[in-house]
Amino acid sequence: MNNVLVIVYSYTGTSRRVAQVLCSQQGWPLAEITDARRRSGAMGSWRCVLDSLLQRQPAIRYDGPPPSDFDAVVLVSPIWMMRLAGPMRSFVARQRDRLPDVAVLSVMGGQGAPNAAAEIGKRLARAPILSAAVTQREADDGSCAARLQAFGNAVREAEDSHAVVRPVTLSPQST
Ligand SMILES: Cc1cc2nc3c(=O)[nH]c(=O)nc-3n(C[C@H](O)[C@H](O)[C@H](O)COP(=O)(O)O)c2cc1C
Repeated sequence: MNNVLVIVYSYTGTSRRVAQVLCSQQGWPLAEITDARRRSGAMGSWRCVLDSLLQRQPAIRYDGPPPSDFDAVVLVSPIWMMRLAGPMRSFVARQRDRLPDVAVLSVMGGQGAPNAAAEIGKRLARAPILSAAVTQREADDGSCAARLQAFGNAVREAEDSHAVVRPVTLSPQST
């Protein structure tokens, strides 16, 4: 089964690099969510903080293929203030009824990934088929590659088997 779309939001580029590695390992296409209003400098970072603390849904752009054309999507996003990054929250809320099976891959300094997966599950009223996280350090030094491979393989197997899908967490080194 190869009908999987990876959808990424990235503020400083790490999640994008992680998503690109996953796509190149599995041969999956990549689509990107971007901010409708550019984030830059201290004000941009402050807006990230407020988006998370207030659980806001900032305006976004998405020009990728319709998620409903795929059997599964992998949502890749950073953690902000222990929560899902605001633009991914906007995407999930907007696409809620068009999303097929969802796997969640969080990119973080070290803490908060379970909250992001739980929020996505709550917004969709169904649990992600898989969730995993990598740290910024693991992305920077490349040591997350084996876990990304295992995560991608697990998504593939979950879709292939089409058994009762259960949430599975592949833990990072630090959570
Ligand atoms: C405003 C803000 C808040 C953050 N809060 C957290 C946090 O609560 N926990 C964490 O592990 N990392 C946190 N981080 C770190 C990012 O999740 C991490 O650097 C990630 O790799 C960034 O991904 P990106 O480069 O794709 O934007 C935060 C970063 C920003 C900008």
